[in-house]
Amino acid sequence: MQVVETTAGMRKLRDGLAEPVGLVPTMGYLHEGHLSLVKQARSENPSVVASIFVNPTQFGPKEDFESYPRDTERDLAMLESAGTDVVFMPSARDMYPEPYHTWVEVDTITQRLEGASRPTHFRGVTTVCTKLFNIIKPDKAYFGQKDAQQAIVINRMVTDLNMNLKVVTCPTLREDDGLAMSSRNTYLNPEERKAAAILYQSLCLAQQLWAEGEKDAERIRQEIRTLIQKQPLANIDYISIADNETLEELDEIRLPALVSLAVKIGKPRLLDNIVLE
Ligand code: PAJ
Repeated sequence: MQVVETTAGMRKLRDGLAEPVGLVPTMGYLHEGHLSLVKQARSENPSVVASIFVNPTQFGPKEDFESYPRDTERDLAMLESAGTDVVFMPSARDMYPEPYHTWVEVDTITQRLEGASRPTHFRGVTTVCTKLFNIIKPDKAYFGQKDAQQAIVINRMVTDLNMNLKVVTCPTLREDDGLAMSSRNTYLNPEERKAAAILYQSLCLAQQLWAEGEKDAERIRQEIRTLIQKQPLANIDYISIADNETLEELDEIRLPALVSLAVKIGKPRLLDNIVLE
């Protein structure tokens, strides 16, 4: 496995890689969920590049950029054992040379759900992914369903801007109690960690209500709200049942529908979702 720390070095190395090239963008502090993307990329491409870059531009001023967990040595060992060929880990200065003025923005779908409470988040994500795509020129890029809106936004950007790659969305990996794996789960204390299982439980309830014939999206949102409110450590940010492409909220369930949640458990804000299809 080769580790490259500069954009110039990455460009040079790219030319020698066997194609197709699969890219797995990450912010590090890896877990099995990230590795599942690497493994899928490994199974579909002779060359696998993973990036580790805690992207400052996707964090809001009051968010956890400075304290975002980091453990490069462990990340590199995990990437190596999952069969990564190249790890690209640039510095912020190299990715955003001063003065920096250029942004890639996807409208409408970035203002909903996560975008409503994090107004500059997706601009940071789409800009850094465009830069990674330009530097690494992957044939396929792998994203997790865990961040459903992110995968939808990147897909939209790639289509709208005729970017020459395929976006692959991989299933969410979960802990035994259903909690979606996330680097931010490390912020949970033991009591909060237990309480966090309520997110997936409420998604399962939505799935069950729909399977039993419930078509009224608002009734399902209300049932989810009632269940989560029984957990005293939980504080709901949003409960959404939306069209899985436009992210418009639905009155009546039309498939495929994205059921997604943002819930604070103590301080940490957790995300999860399922697709009804
Ligand atoms: P990060 O949060 O590190 O996640 C990297 C990738 O791993 C994302 O595509 C995310 O959806 C996926 N992932 C996270 N948890 C997962 C799980 N439990 N199961 C499956 N996949 C999971 O998302 C980002 O970084 C950044 O926004 C990035 C795309 C790298 C741009 O900076």
